[in-house]
Amino acid sequence: MSDRPRPPRPSSVPPTSSRTPTQGGRRGRLSGKRIALGVTGSIAAYKAAILARLLVKDGAEVQVVLTRAAREFVGAATFAGITGNPVLDDMFDDNLGGEVHVELAQDSDLIVVMPTTADALARFAQGRAADVLSAALLCATSPVLLVPAMHPRMWSHPATKRNVATLTGDGRAHFVGPTSGEVASGESGVGRMAEPEAVHSAILAQLSQDALAGKHVVVTAGPTVEDLDPVRFVSNRSTGKMGFALAERAAQRGAHVTLISGPVELPTPYGVHRVDVRSAVAMRGAVWQAVGPDLSHADALIMCAAVGDYRPAETHSSKLKRGDSGLSLELVQNPDIISEVGAARQGKRPVLVAFAVETATPEQIVENARGKLKKKCVDLVVANHAKDSFGKSDNLATLVGPVDDLPLPQMPKLELADRILDWVLARLSSTATSETPRTG
Ligand code: C5P
Repeated sequence: MSDRPRPPRPSSVPPTSSRTPTQGGRRGRLSGKRIALGVTGSIAAYKAAILARLLVKDGAEVQVVLTRAAREFVGAATFAGITGNPVLDDMFDDNLGGEVHVELAQDSDLIVVMPTTADALARFAQGRAADVLSAALLCATSPVLLVPAMHPRMWSHPATKRNVATLTGDGRAHFVGPTSGEVASGESGVGRMAEPEAVHSAILAQLSQDALAGKHVVVTAGPTVEDLDPVRFVSNRSTGKMGFALAERAAQRGAHVTLISGPVELPTPYGVHRVDVRSAVAMRGAVWQAVGPDLSHADALIMCAAVGDYRPAETHSSKLKRGDSGLSLELVQNPDIISEVGAARQGKRPVLVAFAVETATPEQIVENARGKLKKKCVDLVVANHAKDSFGKSDNLATLVGPVDDLPLPQMPKLELADRILDWVLARLSSTATSETPRTG
């Protein structure tokens, strides 16, 4: 797709030279990618402008096509301003010359239609070609992402279901959403359009050229919760942000991601398979299920969860009553999940990453992490201080590897996730050539 030689931009598709200097040439994960953004007539059309902004910020060249109905909801000037490219009219215009639909399809690495109304879906499913967007989809060779938005009764109508089945069966379109929630009428149900951030993630996953593409990455996140009785438990302050950032970035980079999470208040990142657990023992079961008994189902296991080291020896089925004196709790040790996997590993896969959250001095934290690297038989330990990590959006960490340590500056958790995934990737490639990646 993106490797094919790019034909010169045809005369009927606006030239990139019309882009303003501030909008053109941004560097980002979508640098060099050309994305056609079709917008059809729905009240949700204004959210397409947010998607356009996210794509441009990420370096993409965005060409917007507004259908006639979309123009009733949003203005072309908004999209032209955001993308720096004149907006294409959806009706065939003899004055433009050339075959604008063919050129648009040929010139795009991906076509996304957001929102896709029920009517647009029907047109695409039937292979209609009376407007530029429908005709462009008919000649598309690049991936097509459709982002439906409609009333739940329209989405669940047999006609719409048939159209979705036709498009999916033809293998020519992927769907992002719809999700469940409130729609424009104020009613709730499945039909609400996926949010621009989720569509952005789906586009990143589609266009990912990353070597992580197709790899199975298992990530654990959040705390574990050990019940003492129906109302009390033993747990910790982990919010799950770091693990969810790892899952989000791995999925955006094209990996198949299984995210095993303790109880947290975070939405599932787009494209991630999430398994919710509560206790350490349940997390252990889910991890073994994901990596497989012989560890052959996963390319990497990143144990980011703050697994409780202890659980109450007994879980009471009814609430413990207050007595006249103090109460001693007997705690028993939980299984050390990553150590079990490390001990069972024969070869070099899956790549194993542990986290070490401590409250010691920076030197002691790194020293302890080195100890954990050996004791738990893992490839990398991400060492950090509890005060720098729990509940924060940034993190300050040192990557402790078998060869050397890499102290990283404070950075957003999404960026740290990328640095950890880069290390995992280097390790995966080096196992093919039997070299250990340097941490830096
Ligand atoms: O020994 P410590 O609890 O500091 O080790 C932290 C690392 O070990 C984390 O990666 C955590 O997910 C993992 N761990 C585990 N099972 C436990 C405790 C911790 O896999 N019972």
